[in-house]
Amino acid sequence: MTLIADARTLLHLARGPAAGGSHADRLQRFYQPQAAHYDSFRDRLLHGREDLINQLVLPPGSTVVELGGGTGRNLEYFGSRLLSFGRVEVVDLCPALLERARERCARWPAVAVAVEADVTTYRPAQPVDCAYFSYALTMIPDWRAALDNALGMLRPGGLLGMVDFHAPSRQSSLERGFWRRWFRHDGVFIDPQHLPYLLRRTEPLSCQERRARVPYLPGLRVPYYLYVGRKPAG
Ligand SMILES: C[S@@+](CC[C@H](N)C(=O)[O-])C[C@H]1O[C@@H](n2cnc3c(N)ncnc32)[C@H](O)[C@@H]1O
Repeated sequence: MTLIADARTLLHLARGPAAGGSHADRLQRFYQPQAAHYDSFRDRLLHGREDLINQLVLPPGSTVVELGGGTGRNLEYFGSRLLSFGRVEVVDLCPALLERARERCARWPAVAVAVEADVTTYRPAQPVDCAYFSYALTMIPDWRAALDNALGMLRPGGLLGMVDFHAPSRQSSLERGFWRRWFRHDGVFIDPQHLPYLLRRTEPLSCQERRARVPYLPGLRVPYYLYVGRKPAG
């Protein structure tokens, strides 16, 4: 069953998102046929997500927003901490993935909610204690607007978390070109400017550069990074 589901997902990845229409249209066309098996395949592709969630040290009552949260898979990594929070929002632009996120959020109706919105402009009703991106920044064309907006919704001293594919500074141009082309085909844009921008705009608390296996690409290890920073006070 997993092999058949994987084969379907790989076919959609090989085709890539169809051109034309808005960014939201392209996301929906790309993800709708993959939504049912999104989590099982991405659990083996999107590494470090659980580690990021564990590094977000947040007291009870905290308000948290995942930007580009997809199916809401990352909420599960909070475990019993989730119910201690004041509110958790999963914000995404793709209705097919949000449908899954809504089903998930229904397990914790007192705290969790899924919101359909563009994260370059969306603002929660009140400033939040933590905003994080998990493999979403590389899929957002105006990534600076998304990061600026995330900082804008955070209270001073609030946490900004990030886990995503990465172009490390010590990387051969051959390897960098390979991963950029490989992911660009699926609308994922690895940009060496992401991490320096985070380091400029926040006070770093933790920064780790790592590598991980990619399903069905034996012998290759893709670079990714985890980052937690604090919004400067004042
Ligand atoms: C690779 S998925 C990651 C989903 C989830 N964070 C995870 O870790 O499984 C990237 C997500 O970013 C969302 N996305 C891309 N651009 C967006 C935008 N401008 N506003 C909101 N969501 C966006 C996509 O719809 C998709 O759900």
